Amino acid sequence: MPTKGLFGFGRLIESVLATQADAGPQYVVEAMDTEMGKDIHTAEVPISDYRLIVTRDPANVQAMLATQSVDWDVGEHRTDSWKPLFGVGVFTSRGEAWKHSRALVRPQFARDQINDLDLIERHVQQLFSAIDRSHQVSKEGWTPEFDLQPLFYNMALDITTELIYGYSAGSQDPNGRAELPVIPGYDTPDRQNIGMHMDAGKACVETRGALWKYRWLLPTKALNAHCAAVHKYSEWFVRLRLQRGDNYLSKIESESGDVSKKRYVLLDELAKVTQDPVELRSQTLNILTAGRDTTAALMGWIFYFLSRHKDVFDKLREQTLNSFGPYVASDASNIEFKELRDAIPYMTPVINETLRMAPVIPLNERVALRDTVLPRGGGYHGDEPIFVPKGRQVLIPTYAMTRRQDLWGRDVDVFRPERWEEDGGRKFGFEFIPFGGGARQCLGQQFARTKAAYVIVRFLQKYDKIECTQVPPDAPLRFHHTIENRSGSGVQGHKLLIAIPMNIPPSFLESVKTEFPNLEVVHHDIGSWGQTGVPYPDEEWKDVTILMTFGAFPKTPELAPKLQFVQLISAGANHILEQPIFKDTKVDFCTANGVHGPQISEWVILTYLSFLHSFPYYLDNQRQAKWDRGKHNVIEDSPGKTVGILGYGAIGRQTARVATAMGMTVHAYTLHPRPTPESRHDDSWAPAGLGDPEGTFPTKWFSGPSQEDLHTFLKSGLDLLVVATPLTDNTKSLIGAAEFEALASVGKGRTIVSNIARGPVVNTGELIQALDKGLIRGAALDVTDPEPLPDGHPLWSTKNVIITPHVSGASTRYNERALAILKVNLGRYSEGGRLVNKIKKKRGY
Ligand code: HEM
Ligand SMILES: *[C@@H]1O[C@H](CO)[C@@H](O)[C@H](O)[C@H]1NC(C)=O
Ligand SMILES: *[C@@H]1O[C@H](CO)[C@@H](O)[C@H](O)[C@H]1NC(C)=O
Repeated sequence: MPTKGLFGFGRLIESVLATQADAGPQYVVEAMDTEMGKDIHTAEVPISDYRLIVTRDPANVQAMLATQSVDWDVGEHRTDSWKPLFGVGVFTSRGEAWKHSRALVRPQFARDQINDLDLIERHVQQLFSAIDRSHQVSKEGWTPEFDLQPLFYNMALDITTELIYGYSAGSQDPNGRAELPVIPGYDTPDRQNIGMHMDAGKACVETRGALWKYRWLLPTKALNAHCAAVHKYSEWFVRLRLQRGDNYLSKIESESGDVSKKRYVLLDELAKVTQDPVELRSQTLNILTAGRDTTAALMGWIFYFLSRHKDVFDKLREQTLNSFGPYVASDASNIEFKELRDAIPYMTPVINETLRMAPVIPLNERVALRDTVLPRGGGYHGDEPIFVPKGRQVLIPTYAMTRRQDLWGRDVDVFRPERWEEDGGRKFGFEFIPFGGGARQCLGQQFARTKAAYVIVRFLQKYDKIECTQVPPDAPLRFHHTIENRSGSGVQGHKLLIAIPMNIPPSFLESVKTEFPNLEVVHHDIGSWGQTGVPYPDEEWKDVTILMTFGAFPKTPELAPKLQFVQLISAGANHILEQPIFKDTKVDFCTANGVHGPQISEWVILTYLSFLHSFPYYLDNQRQAKWDRGKHNVIEDSPGKTVGILGYGAIGRQTARVATAMGMTVHAYTLHPRPTPESRHDDSWAPAGLGDPEGTFPTKWFSGPSQEDLHTFLKSGLDLLVVATPLTDNTKSLIGAAEFEALASVGKGRTIVSNIARGPVVNTGELIQALDKGLIRGAALDVTDPEPLPDGHPLWSTKNVIITPHVSGASTRYNERALAILKVNLGRYSEGGRLVNKIKKKRGY
């Protein structure tokens, strides 16, 4: 099991910073991919003086939450850090205290009354009134732009407080709040500010949670004030219930002036079992916190995706209208609880897909109560059990499991509800646990799903269309490390600067405008590839959030404080590795890897066929006006011949595609072994329908760092060897005398060597000798060592060589492809997906 410094001490600080920048869970996913590798799902990581296990393996998660849950509990720090705010209740407690709490509140959630649609309907009507009150509808009948998220927060607070206490906080309509009854000697609770106190208190707790070992470093004064306010709020209702006794409900009903509707109030039910005021306060606050932000955030995310996916919106709306008819404000009586689930088949897939893309609670944790084992993560292949000593903490990144390509497919980053309907309704196990699982599974799941479905139905009945007007729609998804609420419009006014010495086709700019209407796009023709051209003015950098360039950066990173990511127009990044903006900031960088695939693979095939068809010979004769069929009896064609591709990246993969079409066999060589179909995938960009993203063309795969490994590949019977590996210290003179001998030992001089990588990968002197001795049949060289190749250099006059001056990568369609990559990344960025071709900063490519 790798024990690399995933979260060294420095990393802990970094992770806390990431929490504050709302990037906690993504940080974990990225750290796991980078530090451990995509195929490793369980790791033990040292954090300063203790160790932590991180696992995104559903089998382990199932063991901890369900099958072996007796060996596990939530960490002490959960209780410690939440207790001050919400007290000891079902959500915050451990051990016996939790068992007691769960037994107390669980029966409440098994009752159908809890899914009180009348209650939800009242608050949805208030939501619609709040929209109508503050937004003038246009002549055409459209509501102007507004932010739904705060409205959902208020609605969730009102619904949850009413469900729990019988009286709503009334945050949706502060002026229309009903008077509360009076308890002599006690101030009426501060309904105005309860939401704020809960939020602020939680913000304090979350920062302390992330730093749990070091929480004594953080000030507690603010937290104490919010805790006091939250307690006071709850205590008031508890007191009222205890005073009124069994008349609590009937008094509420008569105050509301509607006694026909039987109400359900959680506090009232709990008070039938216990009269302990502290217990009642804590249990109700636990449920309030578990139920409020979570549902509000879920609603926010659902509309976030609906407003960006018109097809999904339309399909869901059609099914809604078919089942429940058009909107009638005063009457929702035809919508019944059971039908909500069954009458709209597309509803659950939409809600599930939202929870998959944006799990409201993206991280969970457990601690081992005794020495125990987890079923997977050990052994050479990571599929054997691992020992876990008592007290070891385990981080469960729910979000990382819903973003595993091997579990969800290659389109894991795409919002696509249909995936839930495919294969006759796919069943998911512990890789999808937005509501937790096993012993401590969420009690409110049914209620949350009902509420979400109900609100969606009413919205879709009322509104034909929702438009996304977020500036820009392409801001990243952000998650907080426990409960999140924001969709990431944090950077207002995104500005894309394209600082490249190229023309940009107007059609490109138009399509960007259509897809990202609020993105400001500026093209600055820098006039040269490097930093040397016309600089972009210092003061203009301050608003730039996205940059496309080869090497034009602000003079200092401070000039561009809002910069989020840089799209390079080159396939490599060696020229920027030393730039402060790359080294010293968190700005993401992406290459244009993939732009070269088509043209370079064509160059490879062109030169290869030139040898087979004696093309140089006939071209020379043509220049001399000489009709000479000379070599016609040695001309060969390619079906059945074998190409070996050394370095199976973008260029190699497209070459494999073309060679396969010609009937050739492909052997691939990669540094690291690719034994499984998964490991052969390539996520980097390729033009649509080209390359070999799945890695299916090669019939044989070779790998390994040693010369022996390389020679095994070279001795596999190659007619053409394509050198397509990057130039590094390890690949300098990778192909020399011994390698030509290896080729010849099987190929008997029939191999053609094609170098489109970098000159020094092939040893020039030894190449000349190999050609002279006939160890290989010819060499096609787009790159040489040295470059430019000087006049009189012996390579010029060696037989059977084709030389071009480093032009195989040129194409009139280069810009088009680089811009296509930029556009893919704008889309990914907007959906919070992984950027394509993102550089791993430590590795440099
Ligand atoms: C989208 C909405 C919701 C999500 C995603 C959600 C998610 C979760 C998760 C992941 C847990 C498990 C925590 C753990 O394993 O330690 C949990 C626990 C819990 N949830 Fe929810 N929840 C939601 C809504 C609600 C609602 C509306 C209520 C109540 C009205 C509720 C009440 C609870 C309670 C009481 C627990 C504690 C259970 C225990 O520890 O025994 N949740 N929830
Ligand atoms: C939730 O979002 C609203 C509006 O977007 C914001 O005012 C509030 O502070 C947020 N709450 C938390 C806990 O971040
Ligand atoms: C949605 O997810 C739940 C688990 O939370 C699962 O039980 C259900 O089958 C899923 N629904 C569909 C349509 O896949």
